[in-house]
Amino acid sequence: MESKRLVGKVAVVTGASKGIGAGIAKQLAAEGAAVVVNYASSKEGAGQVVNEIAAHGGKAIAVQGDVAKTEDIERLFAEANKVFGRLDILVNNAGVYRFAPLEEVTEDEFHRQFNTNVLGIILATREAVKYFGNDGGSVVNIGSSVTSLTPPTSVVYAATKGAVSTITRVLAKELGPKKIRVNSINPGGVETEGFHTLGFAGSDFEKQMIAQTPLGRLGQPQDIAPVAAFLASSDSGWITGEIVHVAGGLG
Ligand SMILES: NC(=O)c1ccc[n+]([C@@H]2O[C@H](COP(=O)([O-])OP(=O)(O)OC[C@H]3O[C@@H](n4cnc5c(N)ncnc54)[C@H](OP(=O)(O)O)[C@@H]3O)[C@@H](O)[C@H]2O)c1
Repeated sequence: MESKRLVGKVAVVTGASKGIGAGIAKQLAAEGAAVVVNYASSKEGAGQVVNEIAAHGGKAIAVQGDVAKTEDIERLFAEANKVFGRLDILVNNAGVYRFAPLEEVTEDEFHRQFNTNVLGIILATREAVKYFGNDGGSVVNIGSSVTSLTPPTSVVYAATKGAVSTITRVLAKELGPKKIRVNSINPGGVETEGFHTLGFAGSDFEKQMIAQTPLGRLGQPQDIAPVAAFLASSDSGWITGEIVHVAGGLG
């Protein structure tokens, strides 16, 4: 039987129109939370996630917004508050990635990845803090096992995820007095739309990752989602500032 650890809670999940974020949104809803499914451009994907949640008796709305833009973030949380009236959980999942050798790194690509993966987390957390109540809240950031693997050609992406780990530890200290916990999940390779779009499926990189994974396969969004629900719930009430590797032993 599915546990119902999040009844009465409200969660914002960024980048939840597909992939890991969609898996987390569905899990939080299955455990009783009302969920705000954020997306950048995939309106249809976000709508499908909302419909799936509703079909299982859960509550969700889709809200467009680029996490790297202050006005979008303000609108996202205002909308969440208007519809659901409180906030308990923020999952900073929205992220972009592309691997390239050093000589092909461009300023534009650096800013694209840092804007979403780093600035986006800071802006969303800053706004969420305004809405968490007296009982505090839980922020779950999505990092990556690239920070421990440090594979060649990941210089920009790995740098963004190194920043995610650092932000997690700093904000756990800064927000602890407000009863706000901040933790990260570092997934290993996870088979998602983004993973396929960027051509990782079937690549040598994928084969290498699986070979280095003690549990011997790629991850799926369903491998990550229950851990996000645990970190969002009071079951992890004494855990903050931690980076949890959810990677089948990779890293
Ligand atoms: N897949 C992996 O192997 C893996 C491993 C470790 C960590 N991660 C991390 O896990 C997270 C999700 O990855 P994924 O593989 O599930 O990615 P994905 O399939 O490409 O999905 C990315 C999601 O993020 C959203 N998004 C992108 N930029 C955004 C922005 N500026 N504002 C709001 N939403 C935005 C996308 O929305 P639209 O569709 O509307 O653009 C989409 O919902 C990322 O942080 C990634 O770095 C992934």
